[in-house]
Amino acid sequence: MKAFETKKYIERRKQLCSLVKEGYIILLGNSETPMNYKANTYKFRQDSTFLYFTGLNIPNLHLIIDANTGKSTLYGNNLTEEEIVWMGYQPTIADLASMAGIENAQPLNEFYKFITFIQEKKFNYHILPPYRDDHKILLHELFNVPIANINSLVSEPLIKGIVTLRSVKDDDEIQHLDEIMNYAYKMHITAMQMAHEGVKEQHIAGVIEGIALSYGNGVSFPIILSKHSEILHNHDHSNVLKKGDLMICDAGFESELGYSTDHTRTYAVDGEFSDVQKEIYTIVLNAQKKAISLIKPNILFRDIHLEACKIITEGLKSIGLLKGDTDEIVKAGAHTLFFPHGLGHMLGLDVHDMENLGEKYVGYDETVERSSEFGLAFLRFAKALKPGYVLTVEPGIYFIPPLIRKWQADKKFCEYINYSEVEKFINFGGIRLEEDILVTENGCRLLGKKQIPIEIQDVINTIKQ
Ligand code: GLY
Ligand code: MN
Repeated sequence: MKAFETKKYIERRKQLCSLVKEGYIILLGNSETPMNYKANTYKFRQDSTFLYFTGLNIPNLHLIIDANTGKSTLYGNNLTEEEIVWMGYQPTIADLASMAGIENAQPLNEFYKFITFIQEKKFNYHILPPYRDDHKILLHELFNVPIANINSLVSEPLIKGIVTLRSVKDDDEIQHLDEIMNYAYKMHITAMQMAHEGVKEQHIAGVIEGIALSYGNGVSFPIILSKHSEILHNHDHSNVLKKGDLMICDAGFESELGYSTDHTRTYAVDGEFSDVQKEIYTIVLNAQKKAISLIKPNILFRDIHLEACKIITEGLKSIGLLKGDTDEIVKAGAHTLFFPHGLGHMLGLDVHDMENLGEKYVGYDETVERSSEFGLAFLRFAKALKPGYVLTVEPGIYFIPPLIRKWQADKKFCEYINYSEVEKFINFGGIRLEEDILVTENGCRLLGKKQIPIEIQDVINTIKQ
């Protein structure tokens, strides 16, 4: 099991205690989940917060941190003799506690007893929003709260404390992220070199998932790889590529430490971009370059998103799909027919970092409220940037036939949208380009030593290699 040095986990727990101040912090580790019968499980994925504070990538553990004293107890059961026969020797709970610098180790039944004790004594406790059903059931049983109300147990001070710590990546995390970008590079270069006429999408997706598995934990989210690039999260890989198609590859690597990469490239099969494909590609690339050039501490990411929207709007105006004043179009939201999602999200131990804790804490704060308008509502991160934040920058232009048909039927934004011109693009698909960036003291930089080809000619050269 790979982890940072023990002292990092001790320090992180100490910082958490100083932010949460009092009460018992209860962190549930994840368990193995059956796929089709109990012993045949999905690939194990530890809870990212549990991983952040312990480094223990092992199922069936829980942690309680006493914020008053700073002392922690790891709960779990040592393997039985029978389990060792099937699974091999595994470290004991005491060994695991010592690896993570945790003061105490106890069997799981002591965890259940301690939760009862906390409630009897009316001590304060802190729980995170559960996202797995087995944790919801566990909390329901331990705290006698209906599952539908399970979020009434959740502690805002704990969420805020964790978001404060996990949002700013330290030097070791940044070095690790820089290193693992090499595997993202390998995955994306391989996909480009396979994007030829007659190849099935599934074959490319399988090969690049294999790369992720052979160097780390696997992919950081199910691969999006399709010639139907207009479907934002398309997990269907059943098509065979043919000349003229655009293929999107949105794929990330997850390291043994649990950290993610997340890049997107979109390119023409065999590298044969049509003029129109080049035009749309260039608009998306210009929007991304503009966004990256503006990123620096204290600026609102929402404002950068809106600047990218303006570049996309200008570009679409230049080819006759939008008309009117750019600021008005963006204010009204007419551009969201083509760019319906947000510019990016935080990246770290989760590909959408800490999304399980609530985007309202991760991407928003007291000063920036989430919009309910189509488009802006999908912006996962909007608040002011700080050095050490790691984010994706992923503008796109899509032609989504059902959305176009619906808006046209509703006569939506007819003053800004040239529907008759848009019709000519109905089978275009979409283009998204995504980079992973680190906010620095004065601006930002791309993570990783080598940039995955993004300029059209570099992409063409890679595909034709
Ligand atoms: N890469 C998938 C996403 O950002 O949602
Ligand atoms: Mn992304």
